[in-house]
Amino acid sequence: MVEIIRAENYEELGQIAGEQILRQVEEKRDSVLGLATGGTPRGIYRYLAEKKPDLSRVRTVNLDEYLGLSGGDPRSYHYYMKEYVWEPLEIGRENRLIPDGLCQDAEEECRRYEEQIRALGGIDLQLLGLGENGHIGFNEPGPAFVCDTHKVCLSPETRAANSRFFGSPEEVPRYALTMGIRTIMRARRILLVVSGGKKAKALQAIMGGGVTPQIPVTILLLHPRVTVAADAAALGGKF
Ligand code: F6R
Repeated sequence: MVEIIRAENYEELGQIAGEQILRQVEEKRDSVLGLATGGTPRGIYRYLAEKKPDLSRVRTVNLDEYLGLSGGDPRSYHYYMKEYVWEPLEIGRENRLIPDGLCQDAEEECRRYEEQIRALGGIDLQLLGLGENGHIGFNEPGPAFVCDTHKVCLSPETRAANSRFFGSPEEVPRYALTMGIRTIMRARRILLVVSGGKKAKALQAIMGGGVTPQIPVTILLLHPRVTVAADAAALGGKF
């Protein structure tokens, strides 16, 4: 079942989604939170940092990381997490999980990551952003849904969309490691956050369409507990 919550704008979206996360942590202090990076969740993390909740027992696992970037590289997701989440929210070092962008063996790193998530008992709440092409994590549109954490070749659209965090599309790494669709679907609850008119088309696909690997986000229609929080621009007057 998909529950849809409408926010008036980006700021309200951050508050609404932030409150959902706070409620999750109130219910279970040692929640395992699956977290996303990128522009959309920044408002959520800002809101949480203002609220200063006690997250000392929370474990965080990230959706993805670029291959070839070190954690010290300001363009890496590791760096983003340190800057906007781990340090401001005081998440303990032992509670920060993210794929290693500099791993020697991507397959081995993916296996290790899946194993780490399993050892935590799985993800209680998975926060997801939405790609303009319908991707979730870095699961790009394709002929089939891919399963567990794996290496992906980023699509030209995704590299173009993310070039705002780099100098140009060519500087965006070609490859990344991402939780797979199956990893995401195993989360007990999913919170998809969507902002801006550029996402309206992809969002519409889960509000009345069928499930297709060409629009990866549609797989969420098969999950028992999904909340979509979207702002007015993303909903495009649809809700
Ligand atoms: C980020 C991630 C991606 C983004 C998506 C939207 O960890 O997995 O799926 O959520 O590309 O990015 P923004 O929010 O920057 O539009």
